[in-house]
Amino acid sequence: MSTLVVVGSQWGDEGKGKITDYLAQEADVVVRSQGGNNAGHTINFDGEKFALRSIPSGIFNPKIKNVMANGMVINPKQALEELAGLEARGIKDYQLFISNRAHIVLPYHEMLDGAFEQFKGDKKIGTTKRGIGPANADKANRIGIRMCDLIDPEIFKSVLKSSLTIKNMELKMLGLSELKFDDIYNEYVEYGKKLKKYVCDTSLLLEEEIEKGSKILFEGAQGVMLCLDHGTYPYVTSSSPTGASVPLNAGIAPRYIDNVLGICKAYTTRVGEGPFPTEIHDELADYIRERGHEYGTVTKRPRRVGYLDCVALNYARRVSGINYLSLMLFDVLSGIKKLKICYAYELDGKVINTMPATLEDLYRVKPLYVEMDGWDEDITHVTSFDELPENAKKYLRKIEELTKSEVVIFSVGPDRKQTIRLKDFF
Ligand code: GDP
Ligand code: IMO
Ligand code: MG
Repeated sequence: MSTLVVVGSQWGDEGKGKITDYLAQEADVVVRSQGGNNAGHTINFDGEKFALRSIPSGIFNPKIKNVMANGMVINPKQALEELAGLEARGIKDYQLFISNRAHIVLPYHEMLDGAFEQFKGDKKIGTTKRGIGPANADKANRIGIRMCDLIDPEIFKSVLKSSLTIKNMELKMLGLSELKFDDIYNEYVEYGKKLKKYVCDTSLLLEEEIEKGSKILFEGAQGVMLCLDHGTYPYVTSSSPTGASVPLNAGIAPRYIDNVLGICKAYTTRVGEGPFPTEIHDELADYIRERGHEYGTVTKRPRRVGYLDCVALNYARRVSGINYLSLMLFDVLSGIKKLKICYAYELDGKVINTMPATLEDLYRVKPLYVEMDGWDEDITHVTSFDELPENAKKYLRKIEELTKSEVVIFSVGPDRKQTIRLKDFF
């Protein structure tokens, strides 16, 4: 096989960055196809820690072609800062390709993101306030600005003029200060000049790589439960992080998607507002949050913590075509006497096995759990399945049974080396 999609199968922050970096050791191309700098992908190797936001996780390997595809919304200023930050840490020899069709995030998007959140009051989504929603909305509203526009000063002048006229009306209506054309133009035209050397038709590049038989990794951002179409709407992001979205967002044929690897934590977390059926509020949540350092990479917010939810995982498997799982942060569960896994929900006295569509029902479902004995042993040095404590083995096998998916990788620490592969699949 030559392509693999890495998908977050929960509410994001499952460890997609770690697994993409790990699998990138044998890949030729790494592609980010949606989201933007709302993502925070943490990578640890050789005693160094990196937190990537919009740049693909293959950037550390000079042999890898890193693609930021058409489905992304890219903040030019932030992307340049991220590259400068990497270069300052010695990551200078890299290959980067940015789609000419990717949309860009401008200052008014961030302002509108903040304002919408404020106006929503207690109904706020808890966005990362990076302007991702408003940028995707402009794309759908056909007033977005793309990379191919940004890198041509004359085109940029013309599209920015018409978009800003509309956006200023919006800002004014919301009581925010209007933005001056010259200020944005003069600043962003310079970013365009700096980014120009990376900008190309990445769909064409991917077709060439596919024809060559290259190994291509698609690095998802966010998670299926945050999907605009299939997630816990409206508490979702503004793009689709599913496997199905990859062909559209990267400009390749659907038949080229061979396998989808769902990344899932050994428990569940969520950052931001919205329904979370298996959320726990007692000291066990604090124990997991501290052991797993469950604080947002982008916004530093404490992540909400819950038991593993196999109803949500099964749903993610179905709508995203997940056929393998990578079980992350397994080490965090050591020292817990009794573990629970949600296998179904109860709603109005009926047992259901899928995610209800309405918020009202999602807030009312009662998770049904299987209870399992935990283990005390530290597993951060485990290098094979056989070395796991018996109860950890049973926990992993139970997940496979409940999700009808094979666990092909498990992870016992943040470092690249703390990754155990149970099967060769890429
Ligand atoms: P992503 O957005 O899916 O890439 O995930 P994040 O990087 O936002 O969050 C995952 C966090 O878990 C990061 O801090 C990782 O360094 C960390 N991590 C990943 N795998 C493991 C693991 O197996 N054990 C532990 N303890 N931490 C892990
Ligand atoms: P990675 O790729 C976790 C969440 C936000 C909020 C909702 C909408 O690191 O897994 P947005 O700024 O996208 O409009 O916010 O989605 N969210 C994430 N949560 N991980 C992410 O990315 C996220 N990207 C967005 O917290 O609830
Ligand atoms: Mg993250």
